[in-house]
Amino acid sequence: MAASSVKIIEVGVRDGLQNEPTPVPTEIKLKLIEKLVASGLSVIEATSFVSPKWVPQMADHQQIMQQLPQNSNVNFPVLTPNIKGFENAVSAGAKEVAVFAAASESFSKKNINCTIDESIQRFTPIFEQAKAKEIKVRGYVSCVLGCPYEGEISPDKVSEVANKLYQNGCYEISLGDTIGVGTAGKTKTLIETIKNLIPINRISVHFHDTYGQALANIYAALELGISSIDSSVAGLGGCPYAKGASGNVATEDVVYMLNGMGVKTGVNLDKLIDAGEYISQYLNRNNHSKVANAILAKRNT
Ligand code: HMG
Ligand code: MG
Repeated sequence: MAASSVKIIEVGVRDGLQNEPTPVPTEIKLKLIEKLVASGLSVIEATSFVSPKWVPQMADHQQIMQQLPQNSNVNFPVLTPNIKGFENAVSAGAKEVAVFAAASESFSKKNINCTIDESIQRFTPIFEQAKAKEIKVRGYVSCVLGCPYEGEISPDKVSEVANKLYQNGCYEISLGDTIGVGTAGKTKTLIETIKNLIPINRISVHFHDTYGQALANIYAALELGISSIDSSVAGLGGCPYAKGASGNVATEDVVYMLNGMGVKTGVNLDKLIDAGEYISQYLNRNNHSKVANAILAKRNT
C-alpha cells in the first residue's frame, strides 16, 4: 500500500540544467528556485560542486548558494563528487550534500573518472567531515536498471553499492535509472532486493523518462512503500555522461498522480506549473510535462 505522504526531491535546477549546452544565467536559476519554493516543494537540489571543466553549467555553484532564498524551510542539497567539492559546498553554506556512485564500472569511469571502489574511498573523508559538521549526506547510485555502456545491471550489484553508501553514513539512497530503460517489473525486483538491506523509508527513486516508463515505475515503487521520489520540473534534464538520456520524470506529472491517489506532497500544482513554464519559456523548449501541457491548454480556453 502506498504511503499517505511522499517527499519530492526537485532535481530540475541541477539534473535538469546540468546538460544545457549554453550557460543558463545564475539569476534565471535563482528565479526558478524562487518559483519552486513558492510551489511548496521542501527539497530542491540547488547545484553541483563538481569540476567546472566537466560540467560547465554548474560552475556558478558558489553564486547560487550565496543567493538562495532565506527564511524558507526548504532544504537545498548539492552534489559533491570528492572532498574538494564537499569543502567548497560547506564553505558556501550547504547543509546537505549528495555523493554519487554508480552500479556500473564503465559509467563510473565516464562520469567521475574512477572505479566504483575508488569512488567509495573518495567519499570516506566526506562522510567523516559531514559527521563532524552535522551535514546530512544523501547517496545516489546510477545505472540501477541499465547502463549506456554495459547494458543490463544486476540487482545484486546495485544492492552492494547502495548498501556500501548506506553503511558509510548516507541517510537516504536514491536509485537512479539514469537512461530511463527500467520497467515496472524490474523496478519491483530491484526494490525488493535492496529492501533486504536498506529500510524502505531510506530508499528514493530517481527515474529518467527516456522510454516513457517513469510514472509506471514510480507507481510500482509506491506499492512497495517508497515515500521519497526525485523528479524534475517540466521534465528537464539528462546526464552529460549518458548520451541520449532524456530528462527526469516531470514533477508536475508525479504530483498529479499522487494527488489522484490521495497521497500528500505539500505541493501546489498550479504554482509548480508556473515554475515549469517559466524555465521552458526561457529555454525556448516544449514543456515535457503532459500534465502541465493539459492544464495550460485548459487555462487558455
Ligand atoms: P578528475 O579530472 O579525475 O579530477 O575529475 P582531478 O582530481 O584529477 O582534478 C582535475 C581538475 O578538476 C583539477 O583542476 C581539480 O582542482 C578540479 P586543475 O588542476 O586541472 O585546474 N576539481 C574540481 N574543481 C571543482 N570542484 C571539484 C573538483 N574536483 C576536482 N569538486 C571529478 C574527477 C569527480 C572532479 C570529475 O569527474 C567531475 O566533476 N565529475 C562530475 C560529473 C557530473 O557532475 N555528472 C553529472 C552528475 S551525476 C548524475 O547526473 C546522475 C544522477 O542524476 C543520478 C542518475 O540519474 O543516475 C545523480
Ligand atoms: Mg539523474
